[in-house]
Amino acid sequence: MNKTILCIGAGYVGGPTMAVIADRCPDYKVMVVDIDAGRIAAWQSEQLPIYEPGLNDVVKRARNRNLFFSTDVAAGIREADIIFVSVNTPTKMFGAGAGRASDLQYWEKTARDIIENSDRDKIVVEKSTLPVRTAEAMNRILGSNDKGLHFDVLSNPEFLAEGTAIRDLESPDRVLIGAMETPAGLKAQQVLIDIYTRWVPREKIKTANIWSSELTKLVSNAMLAQRISSVNSISALCEKTAANIQEVSEAIGMDRRIGNRFLRASIGFGGSCFKKDILNLVYLCEHYGLPEVAKYWEQVVLMNEYQEARFVENIIASMFNTIAGKRIAIFGFAFKADTGDTRESPAIYVSRLLLEEHAQLAIFDPKALANAKLELQGVAGQVEYITDPYEAAKGAHAIAVLTEWPEFAEYDYERLYRIMEKPAFIFDGRNVLDHRKLYEIGFNVYPIGQRALAHLEKIK
Ligand code: NAD
Ligand code: UGA
Repeated sequence: MNKTILCIGAGYVGGPTMAVIADRCPDYKVMVVDIDAGRIAAWQSEQLPIYEPGLNDVVKRARNRNLFFSTDVAAGIREADIIFVSVNTPTKMFGAGAGRASDLQYWEKTARDIIENSDRDKIVVEKSTLPVRTAEAMNRILGSNDKGLHFDVLSNPEFLAEGTAIRDLESPDRVLIGAMETPAGLKAQQVLIDIYTRWVPREKIKTANIWSSELTKLVSNAMLAQRISSVNSISALCEKTAANIQEVSEAIGMDRRIGNRFLRASIGFGGSCFKKDILNLVYLCEHYGLPEVAKYWEQVVLMNEYQEARFVENIIASMFNTIAGKRIAIFGFAFKADTGDTRESPAIYVSRLLLEEHAQLAIFDPKALANAKLELQGVAGQVEYITDPYEAAKGAHAIAVLTEWPEFAEYDYERLYRIMEKPAFIFDGRNVLDHRKLYEIGFNVYPIGQRALAHLEKIK
């Protein structure tokens, strides 16, 4: 074997990232450890803990060959030459910076585990998304060991998106490796470059100083989310002016300086990272005495909340200002298509608001029903979790499309119309359906950022 790689944290990032490294570097031993025994057991089983297209095949090729999952963090640290740290870094919910700053307790715990269990020099790689200058604290903690050990800290943020994780890992737009600008730092950087060049063209591997690398990750997510909030803000204006957000998005996206991706209007962005990373950026700007910059980025999150709230207000207003006792079929609970992940999904917020209005929810999602149940645990109200979209829609007054699953466009809407209460409503929070066709079937159709196609409005 060449070198031994350890990843601490077997989550959405640690698992797939290490599986791809092991797949592409069969001469490296790759271990993934986690304190969550259930998660590790799932990684060792046929039913992996996360759903990600292509992941099964990659794991099957490498598992028990040079890819190993374990709960023995200490043994993993002892054996490893290179340690990736990919633990969760959620928003801090207590004390100073509550609701904004990153909660670094899991992160710091791993630094202490590394000192305790190391007996030789190692490279430690920040894979988690962290506030800029975290490596400084990491260096101080690791440098405080009394065994005379030297640790080189690198920053190698992950840019994969859920649902396309394997594709993103196998053919990334770029791999970013930040290092301290010292001879030892640059040598460590080269060790990581040698791993990635096994399958990533060298020109796509971008080296940087460690602070730029840490900050780039936060800014990448902030810029992506900002595009969505920008388009969503304009979707509200479209609904008032009979402009069509899809036409506007397509036309502005044809300008190569703007580009056509991430301009899809929606009920809002979800996912575990956009909100937390922007709030972290906001916190950092405040911390460094830049309130104007902080406010600028905070508006991206506020616009997202506005969009979610607007969607629900629209449902209530269109359904004669009351949804109490009405069955509403929720199509899609995942925060995006092709994942079972529901973290920060707009569906959580929308469902809660609908339940507060005493609607009866029938939730259907192709992959996220189990997580949906967990998200709404303890929320008062009548909710059913249903594995068939037609069952969910039976007797419903409305369908609310909350995730952009492509299969939603393939359903038999004539059949759905027949089994629903009349007047039947569709609120397409992702603009994935054929609105004109639905209208012709008889539905009252409410897209995002486009004029509603409502039979009822003619009566008014
Ligand atoms: P996750 O919650 O799915 O996984 C983190 C894992 O770390 C958990 O299984 C947890 O049990 C484990 N863990 C926590 N403390 C530990 C410890 N002391 N020892 C061993 N294991 C420990 O999180 P994730 O989605 O994989 O995200 C990890 C990091 O990557 C975050 O900083 C996130 O911002 C970043 N990131 C996530 C994505 C994504 O798509 N989810 C993409 C890019 C970057
Ligand atoms: C995002 C980034 O795309 C990744 O580069 C990054 O690594 C990751 O966050 C992270 O740091 O966690 P992810 O959240 O998995 O990835 O998914 P995205 O495809 O970015 O979608 C995020 C949300 O935005 C989803 O709710 C999606 O439906 C929504 N979205 C996306 C829109 O509403 N409109 C769009 O045009 C694009």
